[in-house]
Amino acid sequence: MNRPPDLTDPLVLFMPSGKRGRFPRGTPILDAARELGVYVESVCGGRATCGRCQVVVQEGAFAKHKIVSSSDHVSPIGPKEMRCAEKRRVLEGRRLSCAATIEGDLVIDVPQDSVVNAQIVRKAAVDRLIERDPAVQLCYVEVDQPDMHKPLGDLDRLKAMLEKDWGWQDLLVEQHLLSKVQGILRKGNWGVTAAIHQDMETARPTIIDLWPGLHNEAYGIACDIGSTTIAMHLVSLLSGRVVATSGAANPQIRFGEDLMSRVSYVMLHPEGRGAMTKAVRDAISDLARRVCEESGVDPDDILDAVFVGNPIMHHLFLGIDPTELGQAPFALAVSGAVHSWASEIGLKINYGARVYVLPCIAGHVGADAAGATLSEGPHRQDRMMLLVDVGTNAEIVLGNSERVVAASSPTGPAFEGAEISSGQRAAPGAIERVRIDPVTLEPRFKIIGSERWSDEEGFAEEADKLGITGICGSAIIEVVAQMYLAGIVSEDGVIDGTLATRSPRIEQTGRTYSYLLHDGAQRILVTQNDVRAIQLAKAALYAGIKLLMEKQGVDHVDTICFAGAFGSYIDPKYAMVLGLIPDCDLNEVKAVGNAAGTGALMALLNRDHRREIERTVRRINKIETALESKFQQHFVDAMAIPNKVDAFPKLSEVVDLPARKTTETADGLAAPRRRSREERMARRNRA
Ligand code: FES
Repeated sequence: MNRPPDLTDPLVLFMPSGKRGRFPRGTPILDAARELGVYVESVCGGRATCGRCQVVVQEGAFAKHKIVSSSDHVSPIGPKEMRCAEKRRVLEGRRLSCAATIEGDLVIDVPQDSVVNAQIVRKAAVDRLIERDPAVQLCYVEVDQPDMHKPLGDLDRLKAMLEKDWGWQDLLVEQHLLSKVQGILRKGNWGVTAAIHQDMETARPTIIDLWPGLHNEAYGIACDIGSTTIAMHLVSLLSGRVVATSGAANPQIRFGEDLMSRVSYVMLHPEGRGAMTKAVRDAISDLARRVCEESGVDPDDILDAVFVGNPIMHHLFLGIDPTELGQAPFALAVSGAVHSWASEIGLKINYGARVYVLPCIAGHVGADAAGATLSEGPHRQDRMMLLVDVGTNAEIVLGNSERVVAASSPTGPAFEGAEISSGQRAAPGAIERVRIDPVTLEPRFKIIGSERWSDEEGFAEEADKLGITGICGSAIIEVVAQMYLAGIVSEDGVIDGTLATRSPRIEQTGRTYSYLLHDGAQRILVTQNDVRAIQLAKAALYAGIKLLMEKQGVDHVDTICFAGAFGSYIDPKYAMVLGLIPDCDLNEVKAVGNAAGTGALMALLNRDHRREIERTVRRINKIETALESKFQQHFVDAMAIPNKVDAFPKLSEVVDLPARKTTETADGLAAPRRRSREERMARRNRA
């Protein structure tokens, strides 16, 4: 722009950012975007050769903005733009913003290909846009040829050109590039593309790789390292498009099923820590290779990688001993965000690629909870949001724009189907949905792999093929809730043995009773112990939530998000009937899928999101449930279904909750004695 704009200059509005400004006629749209801080990709530096800077000119009157926008308000398509369209994919209706100039008022749409779609965020209520501003940028320059009279090195002339064309000052260069730079410049006939990494505005930018000529591919991976599964998105840093999403089992399982057993393994075999770190890093490299293969991407084009994980996965991935996390005071070696190098971590992607790991919230609330927080944004809204990620350790975040608090609760593995007599992982043949007739006490159910209910025609044939093998973790919630609604289980969680006279499905097993859910090749029973295991797990979760609600000074929450695989499968209604979560309008309870992975994706595509979560995590009030004296009382109250003291008025509007009653067990345990047993359980759980 040669002169400052005035009020007679065209007004240009960029969407979806909403940034606007006036610019003299003849200003390239790309320059206007840069001036306003609107991120539009460009690799060739405005030479109209890379095809990356595409925008859409909106047609029509935008009354709210007082702009009439028209494609006549930009310069006509010229020869450069046409040439580029012949070589690169310029989509119908799009213009190259470096070539098209402003000739009148405009509304410009910067296409955001980075829509996180429903496939990635399972059951997400809304698709979302992530505005791009990645930490790595590709910059093409044409470097002056060497001149005996100006003995400036090849690399120095390259840096000078990157400053002149792209404004990069004070560039650092990766050591491994020094030996390659001369060959690359000559191979590209002095045209070269540099990948430049700059995470924080205040940090010195670094050239992390070089290619001869125009290189038009840059990718990143966003990875959630779960204790059971590693999930990965492969994303184009240039378009923001997610090109592949995949998952793999975490090979650390061979060192221990759950987190604590892996910490114990390290404690008992200090030499095994290296093997666990190597196992997870190798699995991530393998998964990166696989997503690249699936989408025809060269792993060498992966230039940035963002990771989230629970504190123990976080430590093991970074090669840190997690022993301290296995005992009070659960000290993290590092809680802030970690910046590292792929080469340092041994990831088989571009040698110069950068690694960013989101901050951990506390010793039991990890970078995965930080990722989920970034994704769902309790800190960005006024309503009180409860965010729960249920695993062996439930991570709980509660808050709004004023204040956010977080804790973890020791739910144990019951929700994952472990500790349940017929529990199993979600796999074909596992029961996933259950209904029980309150009059006949007869069940009907659905199994994974079949669309039919068990009382529908054709089910038996399908079940013959699949088998009916057990109850998956999410269904156990539904079974126990249905047993409660049908009056089989009392408020205290006791299976009512007197019903054995009414139904053969109530079976006596020793001193307690069980409910026969399926009688076949495999008998599937819900035992008194199963109900107890679920009660213990749900009481731990609810007690943690209740503590956080008290810290926030609220008696209800406005909205509830269930993150993680478990949350995607459970029916929120039954979770509430059992009292896993507090009373809330059921329309406000949603499953948000792998929110931790979505948070990693956001941090990969936009540096501002990294700063946002770093700031937010510093502000989060961390609550250690083990130190809170009220946890035990909340736990005991939450052993009841749905809860001994808390009411569920919103739930009662849509579900007929049974009248409160207590039932004696076959061995005659009375309520006071049961209470004391529950208290012992509470103490054991806390210990
Ligand atoms: Fe490369 Fe426009 S910036 S084509």
